Amino acid sequence: MTTINLKPDSLAFSLHGAAQAVAAVGRGVALPQALAQIFAQTHALPQARGAIQDLSYYSMRHIGRAESLLNAMTTKPTEPAVLHGLLCCALALVSDAQEGEPRYSDFTVVDQAVTAAAADPDMAHAKGMVNAVLRRFLRERDALMKSAAGKQFARWNYPDWWIDRMRSAYPETWQAILEAGNAAPPLTLRVNRRKTTVDDYLAMLAAQSVLATRVGADAVKLAQPTPVNLIPGFNEGLVSVQDAAAQLAAPLLDLRDGMRVLDACAAPGGKSGHILESADVELIALDNEARRVPRIAENLERLQLQAQLLTGDASSTDWWDGKPFDRILADVPCTASGIVRRHPDIRWLRRKGDTTQLAAISAKILDNLWQMLQADGKLLFVTCSLWPQESEAQAAAFAVRNNATRLPAPGQLLPTASADHDHDGLFYALFQKTVS
Ligand SMILES: C[S@@+](CC[C@H](N)C(=O)[O-])C[C@H]1O[C@@H](n2cnc3c(N)ncnc32)[C@H](O)[C@@H]1O
Repeated sequence: MTTINLKPDSLAFSLHGAAQAVAAVGRGVALPQALAQIFAQTHALPQARGAIQDLSYYSMRHIGRAESLLNAMTTKPTEPAVLHGLLCCALALVSDAQEGEPRYSDFTVVDQAVTAAAADPDMAHAKGMVNAVLRRFLRERDALMKSAAGKQFARWNYPDWWIDRMRSAYPETWQAILEAGNAAPPLTLRVNRRKTTVDDYLAMLAAQSVLATRVGADAVKLAQPTPVNLIPGFNEGLVSVQDAAAQLAAPLLDLRDGMRVLDACAAPGGKSGHILESADVELIALDNEARRVPRIAENLERLQLQAQLLTGDASSTDWWDGKPFDRILADVPCTASGIVRRHPDIRWLRRKGDTTQLAAISAKILDNLWQMLQADGKLLFVTCSLWPQESEAQAAAFAVRNNATRLPAPGQLLPTASADHDHDGLFYALFQKTVS
């Protein structure tokens, strides 16, 4: 990151950081990694980091519209990429006023965007252009917004192929699904039944004036986003951060004490923790990415729970000791199209062909795991995808290939946000190995 002279508590500073994050996503870097790099190179205090992060996520949620507006006002690509990012972040902010949630006055956004450009040697030459583009938007707002609303990627903030595919997979509900993916996600916690109960935890929150509601058997939604180390009881392992739909995995596994259980795609260990909170089982937690395995260890350590951690490929038997499992959780890699409200960059990073590629990998993983299952054992197949090729079609083809008995499970859960039900879009299919 270029060293710049901007006040860390200014909007110009946040705009400058967010512009770099948006530019990095344009180069194919995932937003969390982009932010980590930016934070590593700046010496911003936590509050300034929080502001950059908020603005980056906010901008990614509106980037389709912002790019469409920018394209309408420029005749050639805006370069360098950070300048493009700065204009998109500023346009995301000023164009939102139209929708009734202004966060800053138009004047402040224009002034601070020009200040950010002027402070950066890579953009200083273009500060007049930043001023001109943003002022033109303010003058011609109605016409420009009307034109942007006519383009589906600007209206919905997804790539065209994504919108077309959603419409064809869900002809009745595609608009609600796309809207749900643009909403800010809730902060949902899983209460650790080994340490407390949902009622006692809600009482503890109320005593500290923290507003929260129950959204599942063990799930509690906080009314306000809160850094994890400030969540009451988090450091003591009373709760973990986990979406309410993800909290269905452990109960579906129908666990009993003494079982041998495999979590085959385990990192960062969210579902592993829930499995161990639910019963005294022997858990093997496997992941093929060595750098992600320590995350499982960290999560289990905080919960004071233990598993055997392995780095290995779930589509191979190299790591297996040959002893069958009573239960297998296969939370396979997927496009993550069901969790885009938490990761608004994913839709822009994915390519159309990724689904076919990932579905082929998952099929291989599922077929391989099936042979490791005890007779009468159960395998739970999970994805956080909304694409049928990765979920229902995959489950149906797997059942036929392996003669697997399908047991009741939720199937495709669509992303939802209401007072009582607020969860991501996950898919669940449960299979039993019946012996004839
Ligand atoms: C959806 S995430 C799992 C989330 C995890 N179950 C949880 O609840 O925290 C998928 C994981 O699968 C891992 N993975 C991808 N391909 C794999 C493979 N062939 N074998 C094992 N793990 C794999 C990824 O590294 C990633 O950590």
